Amino acid sequence: MFRFLSIDHVSSTNDYARQLGIQGENNLAVIAEQQTKGKGRLGRSFSSRKGNGLYMSLLFQPKDLSMVPIQAALSVQSVLAEKSRDPVWIKWPNDILVQCKDRFKKVCGILCESFTDKDKIYVVCGIGINLFADFPEELREIATCLAEHTDRMQTPQILGREVTEAFTRFLSLSRDELLERYQKRLKNLNHEVRVLKGAEEITGRCTGINQNGELLVVTSDGREMTVHSGEVSIRDNEMY
Ligand code: BTN
Repeated sequence: MFRFLSIDHVSSTNDYARQLGIQGENNLAVIAEQQTKGKGRLGRSFSSRKGNGLYMSLLFQPKDLSMVPIQAALSVQSVLAEKSRDPVWIKWPNDILVQCKDRFKKVCGILCESFTDKDKIYVVCGIGINLFADFPEELREIATCLAEHTDRMQTPQILGREVTEAFTRFLSLSRDELLERYQKRLKNLNHEVRVLKGAEEITGRCTGINQNGELLVVTSDGREMTVHSGEVSIRDNEMY
């Protein structure tokens, strides 16, 4: 389904794929060796040093936009779990974590962005997987890389194809199947989470996700909250 385009460097593969979408491209996987302005969720930057990771964006027209982050998280989780000696989990909404001794560290971040062009909805699903441990100082405590967990390293190109093939398979699953598989791999499930929305902070227990992939949290006074991924970040004290 996806045609591959490899480039040496770009500011952000998400922005580049979007530009190409506006110019008429579709079903395209863009892989760059380096990003000079890699973007993360919530306006953060994503460290994208040359040769250090897989930086890939998938451009397509989704059948169900709300399921794309779930399909993306499941594809990366399943591919990395096949290679890793250590358990691989999803942290809601779509960070991928690997168990490192007594804690869990992030190996992949995913940023899904949608746009409309000539009345058609497109999504750019950006996937950044840390392959080697050339991290900036501030990330060393919370990030890990695939090389530390496998003897079966791949080039970014091959790994990108494997993730894209897995993604294509997940595109054909029903919503119920996707939600069931996702919850089985969700590290937050039944754990206490802190939901941070600007200056506001709410603590509760994660009871799962709803039909739209939103996080369900029950606070200590018994209120059930639905958390949308747009503006919040969450912390699970047992992970880091
Ligand atoms: C996050 O962890 O907050 C999401 C990180 C997403 C990074 C990927 S790398 C490929 C694509 N291009 C970007 O600029 N961002 C995504």
